[in-house]
Amino acid sequence: MSILIQNGTLLCPEGPVKADLRAEGEKIAQIGPNLPVGDNTVIDASGKLVFPGFIDTHTHLEMNKGLPNETADSWASGTLAALAGGTTTVLDFAEPERGASLSSALDTWHRRADGAASCHYAFHMTIKDWNPSIKEELADMTAAGVTSYKVYLAYDALRISDGTALEVVRAVGEQGGIVGCHCENGDLVAAGIAAQKAAGRWGTAAHPLSRPAAVEAEAITRWLTIGELAEYPVNIVHLSTARGLEAVRNARARGQKLYVETCPQYLLLDDSRYSLPGFEGAKFVLSPPLRKKQDIDALWTALEAGEIDTISTDHCSFHFHGAKELGREDFSKIPNGIPGVEHRPVLMYTCGAATGRISPFQLMKLLSEQPAKLFGMYPQKGALAPGSDADIVIFDPEYRGLITAAAQHQAVDYTPYEGMAVRGRVETVLLSGTAAVTNGQVTAPNQGRFVRRGPSRFWR
Ligand code: URP
Ligand code: ZN
Ligand code: ZN
Repeated sequence: MSILIQNGTLLCPEGPVKADLRAEGEKIAQIGPNLPVGDNTVIDASGKLVFPGFIDTHTHLEMNKGLPNETADSWASGTLAALAGGTTTVLDFAEPERGASLSSALDTWHRRADGAASCHYAFHMTIKDWNPSIKEELADMTAAGVTSYKVYLAYDALRISDGTALEVVRAVGEQGGIVGCHCENGDLVAAGIAAQKAAGRWGTAAHPLSRPAAVEAEAITRWLTIGELAEYPVNIVHLSTARGLEAVRNARARGQKLYVETCPQYLLLDDSRYSLPGFEGAKFVLSPPLRKKQDIDALWTALEAGEIDTISTDHCSFHFHGAKELGREDFSKIPNGIPGVEHRPVLMYTCGAATGRISPFQLMKLLSEQPAKLFGMYPQKGALAPGSDADIVIFDPEYRGLITAAAQHQAVDYTPYEGMAVRGRVETVLLSGTAAVTNGQVTAPNQGRFVRRGPSRFWR
């Protein structure tokens, strides 16, 4: 079956072009002016923006499975929500049990995702343990299409030492992959939480106070030192502060190659949310926490200047009722994480492209091209180009809407963006050449497939 998308503004790798695009089977076959209609199914994209499918490289679906703090979104609901919002590929974090092999986690994540997913998907691997047998498994992971990893410098159940992190970056670098890091100083977070409680502060307002900007900045500086000594590029996930950004700029000024992710919540929401009445602040408890207006401004300036490489969601949804409530009496027991996989494209269009802070072309690079390059999927994914996969989003910039939990596909009982007015809408999504969203409605669920990834393609 072939589909002809006519008269759209296509966000191609070289820049926006007004042209037609023909998808044949699962691939993009042709891009050019006035392509012949023939027997193609025609989609009129006049006045619309046409993007390569958006890629969210930071989700946690079915995390903490079987525990009281299990995440709300399953692979079925999370990827359906992603698709509805224009995300055609998610990269989720597979996480081995303590002492278990990487392949055991890979098997578990495949078992959960295969056959359930509505958008395409791939896995990063979390490194909690490091020993010769895990190191040996890296080559198996590469062969299985897993080429990126995450380490944590915070969370007692997850964090590794600096020396281990150095070895991981080297070993993954030798495989052509990349390691991302959760940059918060775990010891200082523990001390910060204890200090808040000692001062009698047990509510959500204590959450940002327990892990201030300096705690992130120190860990970023340390992580970049590790990358420098390992002599491989590294990735920083969920950057949230101006101080962290300062560390990034210093390292880049010295010539270090590194990549930076931030998330819509750090660009749009501030720490005043933790002082909302009642227990409402719990809806915004994630780590790193929401920050101050000055941090938000600094991140936007960096985004406009091209200093940030990817925007992903860190989608980690917990029900307010039942899960977040575990921390009603003690903020440190509130499960950390917020939902967002469905709304990232429209949020970033509304607050970035529609306001002129970034162009639709920059948006395409942040949400599609650069994630695909960094995580070894380019140009199969992330490009409107002949031969690339026909994962395509047709976006109507004129639409006006509201974000509400009642209307979302995310299977969680709230959204941190409740009531926010948005500009634009994902009208049509082609997933591997099949119309999976039509007129804003999901029309072909459950078509997601595993994406086998190759080495990172570094552009810095
Ligand atoms: O609070 C967060 N971000 N939860 C998800 C896990 C992580 O640190 O990325
Ligand atoms: Zn993290
Ligand atoms: Zn995360």
